[in-house]
Amino acid sequence: QFMSEIMGLTVLENRIKETLQVENVIVVPGNSDDAEWVKQEMGKACVSYLKKIISPNATIAVTGGTTMASVASVMTPFELENNCLFVPARGGIGEKMENQANTIVAQMSRKAQGDYRLLYVPDPISDSSYQNIIQEPSIIEVLQLIKNADIVLHGIGDALTMAERRKTPHELREKLVEENAVSEAFGYYFDQQGNVVHKVRTVGLQLEDLESMKHVVTVAGGKSKAKAIESYFKHGTSNVLITDEAAAEQILRDT
Ligand code: F6P
Repeated sequence: QFMSEIMGLTVLENRIKETLQVENVIVVPGNSDDAEWVKQEMGKACVSYLKKIISPNATIAVTGGTTMASVASVMTPFELENNCLFVPARGGIGEKMENQANTIVAQMSRKAQGDYRLLYVPDPISDSSYQNIIQEPSIIEVLQLIKNADIVLHGIGDALTMAERRKTPHELREKLVEENAVSEAFGYYFDQQGNVVHKVRTVGLQLEDLESMKHVVTVAGGKSKAKAIESYFKHGTSNVLITDEAAAEQILRDT
């Protein structure tokens, strides 16, 4: 029984690799829409993967969200010589404290026995504040660390769910509906073909920065995120998708 389950997941992983055209896929059992422990299983898979790819003194940029919070909750120390640094990928999106990237990197670094830096910038930010804030020496310093990160850990959200969670103004939500936004990652909203239909103005990692990163690790699961995952992977940069069985099966059904 156990072996056949493992075999089943390996088959799923290979089919998702082909469907989404991604180098590595890890699928954990279950559906994280229904059970919190499934998110933690994705978190554990993410921590094991990190241990394989991490190099000494690596900088790890991390986004917000409940999935990344789960990764933080199951983080364990790296090898002693591995003095890693955690930074938030972007300014805190007006989300609940526990789901903000700043909170998550603080917890990750404590559990991994590494260091962290924070980015105290509102997200979204007005154009005039943006122009000023990116000239602040303390902000410039953290931004440098973010842009030169070795590893990026990020989540993907369903576009309209994220717009709602961020209390996005009504007009913008209508625009997202009109433009058929399906997914959201790094403050960018994408349609089913993976085109950017809207970008939240904020300080931190931009989509084009991903191209120079050694490792981009995507963690997203739950049947309800299948379409969002497909959309991000149309053009999105990622070396590995860590997901769950329910999302993987739905992706295969959709395609
Ligand atoms: O708000 C940060 C963020 O990483 C978004 O970019 C992403 O859409 C979302 O969180 C994922 O959140 P969750 O893991 O809670 O679904």
